[in-house]
Amino acid sequence: MSLSISLAINGRQHDVALNDPRVTLLDLLRERLDLPGTKKGCDRGQCGACTVLVDGRRINSCLALAASMDGAEITTIEGLAEGDELHPVQAAFIEHDAFQCGYCTPGQIMSAVGLIKEGMAGDDPERVRELMSGNICRCGAYQGITEAVLEAGR
Ligand code: FES
Repeated sequence: MSLSISLAINGRQHDVALNDPRVTLLDLLRERLDLPGTKKGCDRGQCGACTVLVDGRRINSCLALAASMDGAEITTIEGLAEGDELHPVQAAFIEHDAFQCGYCTPGQIMSAVGLIKEGMAGDDPERVRELMSGNICRCGAYQGITEAVLEAGR
């Protein structure tokens, strides 16, 4: 049985037929819609590499069924920059060396964009660390990440 969903991704409408109702939003983005910027780390909700915004809220896309996304507005890392102009959070990550290998970076940035949108960034590094704690960086670039989020949130 195939299920059809219609969703907006980075401002572009997509109509998708799902042959398998168990496909996750993460796999839909990466494997069907050619949007590999969202990364797969653990595939079980523990690392945050797959973070995207759904209707402005950050979620782990590995835990969300694509079938539940009918009518949703999704933002992925590919949708942040405007032409050659980086999103302020992207620019802050570069400014503060907020990555090493870069694998977790799209998820870190999407999570930061989400928490800034929610008005949660504030100016307390400990609070930012706590709010970003769902995003793991195996290289340990947490200091730069926290500084970048604080700057972008000002
Ligand atoms: Fe989704 Fe790790 S890949 S939380």
